[in-house]
Amino acid sequence: MPDDQFPEDMPGQMIPQSSDLSGVLQPVETARGLPNAHYTDPDIYDEERKSVMFANWAGIGFAFDTPNAGDAMPVEFMGMPLLVVRDGDGGLGVFQNTCRHRGMILVEQKTNVRGTIRCPYHSWCYGLKGELRSTPHVGGPGQNLHENIKRNELGLTEIRSYVWRDIIYVNIDGTAAPFPDYAAGAMARMKDHDKPLYHGDGFSFEVKCNWKLAVENYCESYHLPWIHPGLNSYSRLEDHYHVKNDGAFAGQGTKVFQGMQGDNGEVFPDFNGLPEFWDKGAEYPVVFPNVMLGFQRDHFFTVLVLPQGPEKSIERVEIFYGFDPAERPDLDDLRAKNTAQWKSVLKEDLFVVEGMQRGRHAVHFDGGKFSPVMDNPTYDFHHWVAKQVEKGRTFGG
Ligand code: FES
Ligand SMILES: [Fe+2]
Repeated sequence: MPDDQFPEDMPGQMIPQSSDLSGVLQPVETARGLPNAHYTDPDIYDEERKSVMFANWAGIGFAFDTPNAGDAMPVEFMGMPLLVVRDGDGGLGVFQNTCRHRGMILVEQKTNVRGTIRCPYHSWCYGLKGELRSTPHVGGPGQNLHENIKRNELGLTEIRSYVWRDIIYVNIDGTAAPFPDYAAGAMARMKDHDKPLYHGDGFSFEVKCNWKLAVENYCESYHLPWIHPGLNSYSRLEDHYHVKNDGAFAGQGTKVFQGMQGDNGEVFPDFNGLPEFWDKGAEYPVVFPNVMLGFQRDHFFTVLVLPQGPEKSIERVEIFYGFDPAERPDLDDLRAKNTAQWKSVLKEDLFVVEGMQRGRHAVHFDGGKFSPVMDNPTYDFHHWVAKQVEKGRTFGG
């Protein structure tokens, strides 16, 4: 296109993509939201990949994905090739999915490994705890050893991982506080729900927005009357409260949760021994950066927000119960109904998160304004993200 179609004084054309975070770091009353570039610019996306996702504890998958000894599942998280492995003792390890020899991807598809994980290139083999077991012909034909190939130094690169509520969290750069400290607020608040969980059902969908918009929208109940009129008919705006921010944790709750009933009056059994609060209470917090949780007396769900680029994400939803679904086939229909309800509620949010994403291309948008009363958890998240990015900029993240 000829230059003269973009005269220099054309509004917007000369406005640089700013990533000045000073406005976000103000108190809620005067703060601005994160600048547009944090939702659209590939360089900022890469920066946040390091300083927000890799420097903290991000959710990448579920322990139930690899239930049996030898199960190995590759997971690519923001371009980082990971391998989740269930070892012979029932432990779960997360490794970089690359061979220590020439960096070949080790496992391409979910599989059950019999014996060892064999690299498809030159057949170096690793045990289920990542140890290098064999290096065929490495010292010449028929010579499987070489003095410079020290097997005890060449195990798979382990990534820090922690399983909480069946969610696999990883801290890829290894610098975060131990998970129980990092998530202390969430773990303490949700300790009532520390019960055995049985996986029920799940589904995933793609959403055309930056991962943060999915989280920001989930954090607040302000949108319920307009976006979720069905939910709002029994759980009104005034029935909600904010779950107070404690580091990497914020969200909202309701005081009028109603359990689901089937056509014949059937209900899910509650989690055992919950305090009375949960008879009608339900909470919807986020463990920052990308794990959205839903606690009810009779089921629990998790939504992992998995970034696929600056303007695309996948939401992976998994629903858990306090009973083993295999033992209660009479509740299959009710479970299907529950899954369908959450699918429809979460999909009601699509047009707003995708609309906000398109809104982030408006060059004069200034990050927006928070209601100091209704938007606090969303503000907490913005503030936390800005802090992580600043930390990366200060310490070279
Ligand atoms: S790259 Fe794996 S054995 Fe050579
Ligand atoms: Fe919503």
